[in-house]
Amino acid sequence: MEDGIVKLINQPLLPHKFEIYDCKDYKITAEAIRDMVVRGAGAIGATAGYAMAQAFLAGEDVGKAAEYIKSMRPTAQNLFYAVDKVLKAKDKEEAVKVAQEIADEDADFCERIGEHGENLIQDGFKILTHCNAGWLAFVDWGSALSPVYKAKRNGKNVFVFADETRPRCQGARLTAFELAQEGVPHAVIADNAAGYYMKKKEVDFVIVGSDRIAANGDVANKIGTYEKAVLAKENGIPFYVAAPTTTIDFECESGDKIPIEERDEGEVLCMFGKDNCGKVSKIRIAPEESKAKNPAFDVTPAKYIAGIITEKGIFKPEEIKDIKNS
Ligand code: MRU
Repeated sequence: MEDGIVKLINQPLLPHKFEIYDCKDYKITAEAIRDMVVRGAGAIGATAGYAMAQAFLAGEDVGKAAEYIKSMRPTAQNLFYAVDKVLKAKDKEEAVKVAQEIADEDADFCERIGEHGENLIQDGFKILTHCNAGWLAFVDWGSALSPVYKAKRNGKNVFVFADETRPRCQGARLTAFELAQEGVPHAVIADNAAGYYMKKKEVDFVIVGSDRIAANGDVANKIGTYEKAVLAKENGIPFYVAAPTTTIDFECESGDKIPIEERDEGEVLCMFGKDNCGKVSKIRIAPEESKAKNPAFDVTPAKYIAGIITEKGIFKPEEIKDIKNS
């Protein structure tokens, strides 16, 4: 935030265009979360914290602002964590300070996730990830990609299979963009190609992020994660989840209680892309008369998860409920 304006990377334009999106007030910032100008659990949380700070600075009814910001997206726990934390501030100075602390904490926690997670990555590993849980989805490091970046920076040879992640293609657009920027060798694969490579023993390790973790260790993440976890187990490949403890919802006893966002059917029926003339446009791929269903997340049951990598260390899913007091 600069002079009360929240500045976001306009993610729907990536990888074809890099642009900063200015949010002048808390409503515009909140709506940027709804419209996925900013997305990914940690980045949503940090942005929501600053939206609350904007409401304090403008002398708004902060209770009303909190409800508005929370109503933008239902699944990512970090949104609720950040709004509730800033709401407790006694004045605008404290609200700005708490918002800044949330962003700094996210960067710090994710760097530590990288340090713990890197120990699981051996030289020469081929790693599969789903959606985007890198530095576009968090502050500075990312969750699932942080161990990959640490491994690369420490001289390990790694290769990443980036699932394209329909319908919004966060894997093909955002994870591939990040990996290219970081110089990590990678290939974008169609979502339905993951099992093929796993069965051919070309995947050593699967790591994904999370939008909300229930107290029993069930994990909500981008739609399609569940099937990757089942396939990993079937093929004897370790499946890890990386997330800061701010993503854990200790009040939510199991994954079937996590609210799953249903998004607009147009995201499935159409696609965005750049044509040969360099023009970015939306094209329809399904018949005009077809309808679509578009759940944005699914829940991977704890039994498929080898470990959850947090800033506090690596935990078995059944240990998650005890982290609160550790
Ligand atoms: O709908 P999004 O893009 O906000 O979804 C969040 C995600 O990118 C993922 O589910 C991710 O793997 C975990 S949160 C960084």
